[in-house]
Amino acid sequence: MATWRMGTSRPADDTTSRSNPELSHRVRSLVFLPAVSAVTRPAVSANGLVPSLEICGLHKSFGPLEVLKGVDLKVAHSELVFVLGPSGSGKSTMLRCCNRLEEPDFGEIFIEGDLITGRGVNLNAIRQRIGMVFQAFNLYPHLSARKNVTLALRKVRGMRWDESNAHAMEALDQVGLADKAESYPSELSGGQQQRVAIARALALEPQVMLFDEPTSALDPELVGDVLEVMRNMKAAGMTMLVVSHEMNFAREAADRVIFMDQGQIVEQGLPAEVFGFPRHERTRAFLSRVKGM
Ligand SMILES: Nc1ncnc2c1ncn2[C@@H]1O[C@H](COP(=O)(O)OP(=O)(O)OP(=O)(O)O)[C@@H](O)[C@H]1O
Ligand SMILES: [Mg+2]
Repeated sequence: MATWRMGTSRPADDTTSRSNPELSHRVRSLVFLPAVSAVTRPAVSANGLVPSLEICGLHKSFGPLEVLKGVDLKVAHSELVFVLGPSGSGKSTMLRCCNRLEEPDFGEIFIEGDLITGRGVNLNAIRQRIGMVFQAFNLYPHLSARKNVTLALRKVRGMRWDESNAHAMEALDQVGLADKAESYPSELSGGQQQRVAIARALALEPQVMLFDEPTSALDPELVGDVLEVMRNMKAAGMTMLVVSHEMNFAREAADRVIFMDQGQIVEQGLPAEVFGFPRHERTRAFLSRVKGM
């Protein structure tokens, strides 16, 4: 079924796969390179590899409100970049531009060096390559967990029923919900529903996963299971851009933390640097507000 990317596009120092080979195999079996027609350019990063995701000079306004004022960001293969910032700073808009739920006004976005902004790009193909998980799970209430996943596979990837079914079961197994495949959303906890939504995105075998506050709607006791699934995805080598307020998760799982304010990336660095020694006054003010809550 899938074309394996392993070994061809991952950094040589990727040791995560060796730490949990079985999980890695299961998640990597869903990492796939679909055929996409797009403009390609050599977008080589400092370490000589093409970034999985590259955002260049991204601008977006809603009427007179300038929400993104020139965002530049590169996310390397298998990197987990954690984004935080005050409400209204443009975090969701940035993510939504990455899978073309919003149209950028200016700027370019590349996936594995392929331009995905501009005219003539196949939106269906983009949404296979970039999975997105939202705060609201957006599951169809009249469909079982399995059918929520197979529907996406049939619509987006044009899979036959039997093929989509096997794929869906594999994805549900990865998020620990194979035994809930026939349950309807109303029969699942919020955390389980969010894991179905993650399975639905994973089943499309994306190259990059975007998360927009995936645990914000959950009761505290349900947050852990969703974060565990995200940790497993990270361990298996998925490239992830995560907007969240789960600072402990960021400290432990993120490769890099980005602080956004007023439509710009103000500061970025290792989690220990940004949380422990924020350089910018706006970052310090935000972190002290968050800690005080
Ligand atoms: N479709 C839209 N039409 C008009 N304004 C919008 C639209 N989407 C977002 N905005 C505005 O753009 C600004 C940035 O919104 P965005 O959702 O990106 O912020 P955010 O950083 O994700 O905030 P939060 O932490 O509250 O989720 C806000 O002022 C918001 O009201
Ligand atoms: Mg938001």
